[in-house]
Amino acid sequence: MTTNYSICLLPGDGIGPEIIAEGRKVLDAVGAKHGLSFTYSEALLGGCAIDATGTALPDETLAAAQASDAVLLAAVGGPKWDTTDPAKPRPEQGLLGIRKALGLYANLRPVRIFKALADASALKPEVIDGVDMLIVRELTGGLYFGRRERFYDEEGCGAGGAAGQRAYDTLEYSEYEIERIVRHAFDTARKRSCRVHSIDKANVLESSRLWREVAHRVAADYPDVEIVDMLVDNAAMQLINNPAQFDVAVTENMFGDILSDEASMLAGSLGMLASASLGDGVALYEPSHGSAPDIAGKGIANPLAQILSVEMMLRYSFDKSEAADDIARAVEAVLDEGWRTGDIKQVETPADKLIGTVQMGDLVVSHL
Ligand code: IPM
Ligand code: MG
Repeated sequence: MTTNYSICLLPGDGIGPEIIAEGRKVLDAVGAKHGLSFTYSEALLGGCAIDATGTALPDETLAAAQASDAVLLAAVGGPKWDTTDPAKPRPEQGLLGIRKALGLYANLRPVRIFKALADASALKPEVIDGVDMLIVRELTGGLYFGRRERFYDEEGCGAGGAAGQRAYDTLEYSEYEIERIVRHAFDTARKRSCRVHSIDKANVLESSRLWREVAHRVAADYPDVEIVDMLVDNAAMQLINNPAQFDVAVTENMFGDILSDEASMLAGSLGMLASASLGDGVALYEPSHGSAPDIAGKGIANPLAQILSVEMMLRYSFDKSEAADDIARAVEAVLDEGWRTGDIKQVETPADKLIGTVQMGDLVVSHL
């Protein structure tokens, strides 16, 4: 008996279409082995949607996502649409808009080290030894979604007196929002090594003091899980100094954005970092990296973060852990054999092991 799932593909911009094709290829191949089949719909998000419709998140795209069993997103954005003019649409609005509209408050970003890539990391092998962490980033609140404004300030009050433009963004959280993400982190930690780092800036920010209070209230329900409070600046340092101390790290939206890019360097490349965005309905899976416009269309982008996002989809949306494990093993095998895209190339990588996007996808499929 074959189980069928409908997948909404959002290739987006830049390298997006190239890498999502590899994700789909791997999904179909692993599905064939495990009695799963997939029906695809494809929709516009980001810059391509702005070009076609004038908006980064067209209604049809949201409808297609909502009608699917899971959404696979590649990447959005590019210099073509870069603007600081608040009146102009930006590709990132599509991404933030779909996260908000689908209620995807929990963004899971696993940082794992593939043995073969240990020396592709900018850090010494002994520093990244034992690293296996999960960043749980709050995704629908905080600084990304708070009240903001830009205005002309006649008085220039408090800022040296000169009149000029002024702008603000606000970092706001409700107890409810903090509690549900922290609970998510604790539930996940129970299935891992039972340690949660709650990362905040409670020595300065009121929103962080509320965060810390709520985190401890939640922690009381999990006596088997250790809670460690850590200030975000210290966390940025500890990620480089002693990354193996982390199991689950839960944090505010923007702190999580920044720390997850930093943490990707433990794994050697942002091209290896997958993510799952979960809420109470349909979930979305995407690489943590951007659309890499500089290498778009060249066939050299690393599709592994996209492929590992497919792995997360099988695990979290469809509860198919055997199929997911197969993908993880296949990726590991390909890396063990020494195959590399440019971003994870090592000094000792011979020229004939340096491959492109499609070959990398094909190799993963051949190991399934
Ligand atoms: C990410 C990205 C996005 C974010 C950008 C593209 C809006 O950096 O998914 O981490 O900041 O969330
Ligand atoms: Mg980011």
